[in-house]
Amino acid sequence: MDNKELEDWKAKIVDIKSKKNAVIFAHYYTRPEIQEIADFIGDSLALAQQATRVNADILVMCGVHFMGETMKILCPDKKVLIPDMNAGCSLADSCKADDLKEFINKEIRKCENEKVLVVSYVNTSADVKALTDIVVTSSNAKHIVDQLPPDAKIIFGPDHNLGSYINSVTGRNMILWNGACHVHSRFSLEALLQLKAENPGVEVLAHPECKASILAQSDVIGSTKALLEHTIKSPAKRFIIATESGILFEMQRACPDKEFIPVPPEVTEGIGCSCNECEYMRMNTLEKVYNCLLNENPEMIVPKETAEKAVSSIKKMLEMS
Ligand code: 13P
Ligand code: SF4
Repeated sequence: MDNKELEDWKAKIVDIKSKKNAVIFAHYYTRPEIQEIADFIGDSLALAQQATRVNADILVMCGVHFMGETMKILCPDKKVLIPDMNAGCSLADSCKADDLKEFINKEIRKCENEKVLVVSYVNTSADVKALTDIVVTSSNAKHIVDQLPPDAKIIFGPDHNLGSYINSVTGRNMILWNGACHVHSRFSLEALLQLKAENPGVEVLAHPECKASILAQSDVIGSTKALLEHTIKSPAKRFIIATESGILFEMQRACPDKEFIPVPPEVTEGIGCSCNECEYMRMNTLEKVYNCLLNENPEMIVPKETAEKAVSSIKKMLEMS
């Protein structure tokens, strides 16, 4: 799409958004043009928090399916639209509610007299959240796990890399589900070591969904928002970044005089692309945003019974953040 077409779509969206009293939210991993038309850009925690504060009839969530579900659960009286219902998440897909239920029951049987708490990363379906005691995001996982009773047995899912990282920084021994994000688990250690050798002294910033071997080579580990904030406040001028490449747009916009060097993924023949982009996040396009506002469809619907069970785990997270 050329520049003129992009600008035309943006103008149409601005117009329809105000006519319909709608607010657009975008995750940092979406395309630059989506971030440009969004009223709020954020990581998964900030988007969930912000959704509860806005006064609008329609909320458009430009992110992935579970983000739309979280928004609908928190704002049941609002119309929540998502530009593409097929924008899923490999991490959320790695944990099906029925399998988690079985896993939880097995662990409960093993420790009859211990208190068992189920902590789930926000990258999960509403059905998984309905089985969860407390939801966390990468922004608040350490802070929340630190507040849980020291004698409680914690089941953590679905991201194994994030869970191992939280175990290492909290000293807990949470039982981990073996899930992963296909983007974050594919960064190449070899390429990172080469980038470090070519750029001596340059800080490495990584998302905790990355493998332990990548985190071990990193200077700053945090959520997308934490990494962005670090690049803004740091006096350094160059950074090596190990997270989805959409965040580079916001980093560059906030720090035009700084340089960001993305870590490439391992190249696995025949599997996915050889870039560090989440194809699900990229499914949000200006045309789809406009059409979803025009048709008020696709609309996110979460069955009432599931929403009622899931909401307390999300609210608990917002209280404890
Ligand atoms: P945060 O938005 O919490 O940094 O999570 C990253 C992610 O993978 C979103 O899907
Ligand atoms: Fe899911 Fe990974 Fe995409 Fe985030 S980057 S939405 S965890 S697949």
